[in-house]
Amino acid sequence: MSWAKHQVLEKSSVLLLIGILIVVAIGGLIEIAPLFWLSSTIEKVQGMRPYTPLELAGRDIYVREGCYLCHSQMIRSLKDEVERYGHYSLAAESMYDHPFQWGSKRTGPDLARVGGKYSDEWHRAHMTDPRAVVPESVMPGYPFLAKRELDYGDIAERLKVSAIVGVPYTEEMIESAKTDVELQAGANTEGLKEFLARYPKAQVREFDGEPGYVSELDALIAYMQMLGTLVDFATFDAAGPNLR
Ligand code: HEC
Repeated sequence: MSWAKHQVLEKSSVLLLIGILIVVAIGGLIEIAPLFWLSSTIEKVQGMRPYTPLELAGRDIYVREGCYLCHSQMIRSLKDEVERYGHYSLAAESMYDHPFQWGSKRTGPDLARVGGKYSDEWHRAHMTDPRAVVPESVMPGYPFLAKRELDYGDIAERLKVSAIVGVPYTEEMIESAKTDVELQAGANTEGLKEFLARYPKAQVREFDGEPGYVSELDALIAYMQMLGTLVDFATFDAAGPNLR
């Protein structure tokens, strides 16, 4: 382009801005667009499964209470993070999360692998009054969760909505969603084998320690106790065999 023509662009800040935007947009598209088609963007990893209905309800409480404002669920591939929290997070570990809980703000620790780190008793004490177990904690207490009955009347619909956005919930999972909530929280034991076939590695017990009804705390602890436990990192190999 001759200087005379280029002058037109350079003398008008609006035109120049539009020109810059077009060039940046083309560059951005070239970088981002292929990710939507490359099958390797999210590698399938053995062990990942959709949340059980109870875990999904717990996750909804986690979002409702704004836990994500202080906690991330994304371990970065930096040495200090891997040493503190465990294997760095894989994209596949968030692929059934809508919305994902990555986050960049950590007032409290990352929770991506908190599952199994503490006992249910610890979580109960901690959620009721964090300072009872961690004296220097600045986390607020959530004592009401133990007292509130979990509202899971619409749990089948919640699974259906997740299925619409791509979570592989089957008809069978949706149909049995309500009884699966009760089963996992220890309120009944019928169909345990089928439940575990639907959701491998699901943990089944009275998470809140209180028999009787399913509380919001049951759901939240069930959710926290499964975080980061699905992929077996003793056998996971980023280079291949686990990829399907
Ligand atoms: C105002 C910020 C804040 C909010 C909101 C918050 N936390 Fe925390 N959380 C912290 C801090 C700080 C710690 C570290 C001290 C402690 O263990 O209490 C922590 C620790 C934890 C731990 C222990 C992690 C570990 O590896 O030791 C868990 C589990 C946890 N929080 C869960 C939750 C859940 C679930 C919610 C929502 C219901 C929540 N937090 C809301 C600040 C927060």
